[in-house]
Amino acid sequence: MEKKKNLFYVKGEPFIALAGEAHNSSSSTAYFMESVWEKAQEQGLNTVLLPVTWELVEPVEGTFDFATQDAIIAQARERGMHIIFLWFGSWKNAQCMYAPNWVKTDLERFPRAQVEKGQNKCQLKDFYGMPYTTLSYLGEETNKADARAFAEFMKHLKEIDEAEQTVIAVQVENETGMQGAGREHSDLADELFAGEVPADFAAYMRSHTDEMAEDVKAAVEQGKDGKTWEEVFGDVAEEIFSAYHVASYVNRVAEAGKAVYDLPMTANCWLDKGEKPGKYPSGGPVARVMEVWKFAAPAIDIIAPDIYVQNFCEICDAYTKMGNPLFIPETATHSHVGPRLVYTVGHHHAICFAPFGFEDMGQEFSGTQSYLFGVDTSDPLLQTPQDVDEYRWYNQTIASMTPMLADAYGTNRLQAVITEVPDKNMMMFGSYGFMVLFDLPLISRKDGVCLALQESEDTFYLIANACMLAPISTNPEKPNVDLLAVEEGYFEDGKWVMTRRLNGDETASMNFGEPTLLKIKLFSYK
Ligand code: DGJ
Repeated sequence: MEKKKNLFYVKGEPFIALAGEAHNSSSSTAYFMESVWEKAQEQGLNTVLLPVTWELVEPVEGTFDFATQDAIIAQARERGMHIIFLWFGSWKNAQCMYAPNWVKTDLERFPRAQVEKGQNKCQLKDFYGMPYTTLSYLGEETNKADARAFAEFMKHLKEIDEAEQTVIAVQVENETGMQGAGREHSDLADELFAGEVPADFAAYMRSHTDEMAEDVKAAVEQGKDGKTWEEVFGDVAEEIFSAYHVASYVNRVAEAGKAVYDLPMTANCWLDKGEKPGKYPSGGPVARVMEVWKFAAPAIDIIAPDIYVQNFCEICDAYTKMGNPLFIPETATHSHVGPRLVYTVGHHHAICFAPFGFEDMGQEFSGTQSYLFGVDTSDPLLQTPQDVDEYRWYNQTIASMTPMLADAYGTNRLQAVITEVPDKNMMMFGSYGFMVLFDLPLISRKDGVCLALQESEDTFYLIANACMLAPISTNPEKPNVDLLAVEEGYFEDGKWVMTRRLNGDETASMNFGEPTLLKIKLFSYK
């Protein structure tokens, strides 16, 4: 079987990471992880995203301790689960809280970013006055030390896990970039910013404007022939400068790790939400600077959005430009999450979907979660926790179909629609199609979604919830369409098992009020 570019493979088999990201401190001990694994299994996950922190694995410079990761990998294997480790090195949420103390306390060797000239710490005016410090993206020694530690970790992983492939990918750093300003303001940063833009980078940006964010594209196209960052990148120069340096830094870390163990590597981002750089971490791998990251961080295979905002589907569109596969390392656990999982697999052929703090799925939202998830009264799904049994059903159903889904990844044989994008409710496959209706009076639920996988010209598998299906013929010679067979069922060892043949009242409206897996055969005629 030829391997597809935008898919994970485990021991040669295609693999969709039906995942969850654990809370930041959960993987600091194997002891604490016991209950986390239980939750993961309860939700039908096959992968857990877990931090591995620089401060704990290299508490003394040059002395490494990976005993906790060894124990956690053993726990995963006992349960047949996989791991994507998150390297919390120089950055975590645009700060440096996971750097070891020997890094934090040596400001000469490991300089902090000067958000304001001459200052190692500031208060973020645009962020509730929060006291803020982070490591400089221009710190060569910091970059080397981080890369060395990451390479040690990858070397260890290779030794203990290459044959088993428990760990399928690694995220390098976490939500990189700098808050408080568009760029750093140290003397070194000023000097570089007033200096020349590397010619190959300027040329790349000028020749990759097709999918660029509008303002970045306008700036690049209007860029003068001069050489400084401001001359070449105009109004977006500061963010591009930061992105170039952050991406180059992260690339050196990723490259050092890949050189010893070549696993897929990702970089996640704190979304820009249309704000100005510095309000969100400037230089982080947001879609608007994806071109910069693709150029300066070739060792990063995937740019991964952390999506807590309500325009989830638009964000998915933005992060699949430039051939970037959809990999969602963090998203909210309210009851949009089940349909969104199905939608991202069906519509974007996602390779990883992970609710954050999945351990809490199903629980009422606390104050912090309400803030994080944008809980508000305008949308009942935002206020309601996802039902865990249904989430497990979605995961198990997708897992049972993975070989067929993976075979259809990258083709239009696999499609999906969701209530959140009401104007795109048609799925067309050759001579047949489905119109999917949501929000009808006889449908009481709002979490509508439908994924359709074409098995052969007239036969489809559908995952449907809270929707009504209207089959269509696209053949003008045979415009009428009938249902020849409608079955409910599940897959066992890749084989379809019918649990109920539907006809009569049950197909009169083709209305599905709870998550259902169907096999449908159509017929068209004049
Ligand atoms: C985004 C970060 O990447 C996560 O580690 C976590 O801090 C969540 N935000 C919020 O809790």
